[in-house]
Amino acid sequence: MLPGKLLLPLLFLALASAASQTIALPDNGHAIQLGEDGKINQTFIANTDYMYCFLTFTVVPGDQNCSDNADIVVAAPDSRAVFSLKQHYGKEAWVSYGQFLGRWDEEEPINLVIQSQTAESNSSSVCWPVIDNLLLKSIPKLIQGNSNLLLNEGFEYGPEFPSNSTDGILIDPAQSPVQSPLQEWSVLGTMKFINSKHFFVPHGNAAIELLLVAPTGIQTAASLTEGSTYDLGFKLGDANNSCAGDFVVAARAGSTLQNFTLLSNGTGSSKEFLMKFRADSGLTLISFQIYTTSQTKDGALFDIGFAPLRSWID
Ligand SMILES: *[C@@H]1O[C@H](CO)[C@@H](O)[C@H](O)[C@H]1NC(C)=O
Ligand SMILES: *[C@@H]1O[C@H](CO)[C@@H](O)[C@H](O)[C@H]1NC(C)=O
Ligand SMILES: *[C@@H]1O[C@H](CO)[C@@H](O)[C@H](O)[C@H]1NC(C)=O
Ligand SMILES: *[C@@H]1O[C@H](CO)[C@@H](O)[C@H](O)[C@H]1NC(C)=O
Ligand SMILES: *[C@@H]1O[C@H](CO)[C@@H](O)[C@H](O)[C@H]1NC(C)=O
Ligand SMILES: *[C@@H]1O[C@H](CO)[C@@H](O)[C@H](O)[C@H]1NC(C)=O
Ligand SMILES: *[C@@H]1O[C@H](CO)[C@@H](O)[C@H](O)[C@H]1NC(C)=O
Repeated sequence: MLPGKLLLPLLFLALASAASQTIALPDNGHAIQLGEDGKINQTFIANTDYMYCFLTFTVVPGDQNCSDNADIVVAAPDSRAVFSLKQHYGKEAWVSYGQFLGRWDEEEPINLVIQSQTAESNSSSVCWPVIDNLLLKSIPKLIQGNSNLLLNEGFEYGPEFPSNSTDGILIDPAQSPVQSPLQEWSVLGTMKFINSKHFFVPHGNAAIELLLVAPTGIQTAASLTEGSTYDLGFKLGDANNSCAGDFVVAARAGSTLQNFTLLSNGTGSSKEFLMKFRADSGLTLISFQIYTTSQTKDGALFDIGFAPLRSWID
């Protein structure tokens, strides 16, 4: 079965105030601000054919210069995630986040709750977040095809892209590859999910950018034949967002570890790399981590485009 997607528009309910007009908003300029104890809650029905649910939402800090932004808590029956607005990653005033919401087998009603949260006792100094552009997407469980031993190898399955987002979608760390916005991959550090509409992408419609803010990487597991030799092929590139530099990416497959360097001038190019390895166990962990920590003069972040990944029997 070909993985598909289903988009459900969400409506807002309860306890939220209209956003201040002085805040720059994406799209048509309407959003809601979650004030103190502000909460929106909507129930949707999971479709049994599309069990894995992802949420994309866009958030604008209530005040651009605020040092005390309230957090946003997104909760569904199988998940609860807290998003903080501490670091700014893009060029827009707003950021879009992607999250894995859960997987549901039955046609059960799912409550999606988004609320503000602060640890600050004096709420008058807190800036309350503005929420916009909620997109819900679901896909069936990914099934391994004949041509590739990895699932979601081209990073095509993840949260939906807002139609007008030129900044990509931020993905927070996710330990479990199943409960990950980037299906089948664990995520170490914050990364960006980007699409070919607004970025240079080496293959397909989407790719990930490993942001050089902290150790960033991804990891998956492949069922291989112990003792057999495999090729791990992947493309590294820059997303055509002016980030130039030398990027070192450490690839690991089982006990085989090798560094690859990409010389990038930031104008949108990619290069294919190959690593041979022998599977030293049936279940082999495959991971990529970026090491370079240099930053541009203006403090912008270096990014790296990264897709697709192939692995096949030698
Ligand atoms: C996206 O941007 C285009 C051009 O700026 C605009 O015409 C369109 O209305 C926007 N789409 C949405 C959903 O706001
Ligand atoms: C969300 O709405 C549902 C249905 O009205 C309700 O059962 C649930 O308790 C609400 N959840 C929260 C956290 O308010
Ligand atoms: C935010 O800070 C910048 C630089 O310090 C300043 O130019 C701008 O006016 C401030 N904006 C607001 C809304 O206070
Ligand atoms: C709360 O913060 C506001 C604004 O920063 C300040 O004027 C006020 O005195 C504070 N109140 C308390 C009880 O600390
Ligand atoms: C890869 O590069 C990192 C950072 O420079 C270094 O710490 C690590 O030892 C290198 N690994 C290999 C296998 O060369
Ligand atoms: C940047 O790199 C690409 C690919 O290596 C190359 O084709 C292009 O000419 C380079 N551009 C500049 C300005 O150096
Ligand atoms: C990079 O972006 C520039 C300016 O937006 C565009 O003209 C160019 O075609 C892009 N290059 C690639 C390889 O996507």
